[in-house]
Amino acid sequence: MIIALDGPAAAGKGTLAKRLAAALDLAHLDSGLLYRATAAVALERTVAPGDAEFIDASGSLQPGDSARNGLHSNAVATAASKAAALPEVRAALLAFQQNFARTPPGGKAGAVLDGRDIGTVVCPDAAVKIFVTASAEVRAKRRCLELQERGEDAIYQRVLQHVRERDRSDETRPVAPLKPASDAVLLDTSALTPDEVFEKAMAIVRSRSAG
Ligand code: CDP
Repeated sequence: MIIALDGPAAAGKGTLAKRLAAALDLAHLDSGLLYRATAAVALERTVAPGDAEFIDASGSLQPGDSARNGLHSNAVATAASKAAALPEVRAALLAFQQNFARTPPGGKAGAVLDGRDIGTVVCPDAAVKIFVTASAEVRAKRRCLELQERGEDAIYQRVLQHVRERDRSDETRPVAPLKPASDAVLLDTSALTPDEVFEKAMAIVRSRSAG
């Protein structure tokens, strides 16, 4: 079984994906980490990477790169969004994601993938597609808490501005823009606790697998 979770920055996809994978004994791929790793590798090579540096970094990613330190900073997220708008970068990362879905590691019977284009491009045939959203304000608040827990600076107004800029860049890029697949179920988590989000998602999984 493939579960595709897409949605904007800090909507709660990651937390939900981990819980679904654990509950259903599926593998989990946070596809955002591949874009973040691409950005981090390019930033390490040069302070202000351009298209060529991002494309080069995406083609030379090593297995350990998505477990690097510092992938969760705002600077890396902003650069990841720039890298993610390049068709060459997306093409370089596509095969890995599709391979993960086709042959999940650890002999698992399926996988949960979270990102921006999983239901539309990476796994258009996924059995379950959920588009996870929340208001920009709620997402910025959650991202602030997350950054503070990681010991990073987080000023709400700035984080909100970053979240909005990244939404705009992800939604308006010509290749694989962030948008719900036509057969995705929308899940607005603005007023829900992580437990409630999980329960609602499990209900969607059950109804989709039954149908
Ligand atoms: O954690 P958060 O939701 O803030 O971001 P992420 O999922 O780690 O993704 C970082 C950036 O990578 C996004 O802003 C997108 O531009 C890009 N991305 C993408 O284009 N396609 C994906 N499947 C996943 C991430």
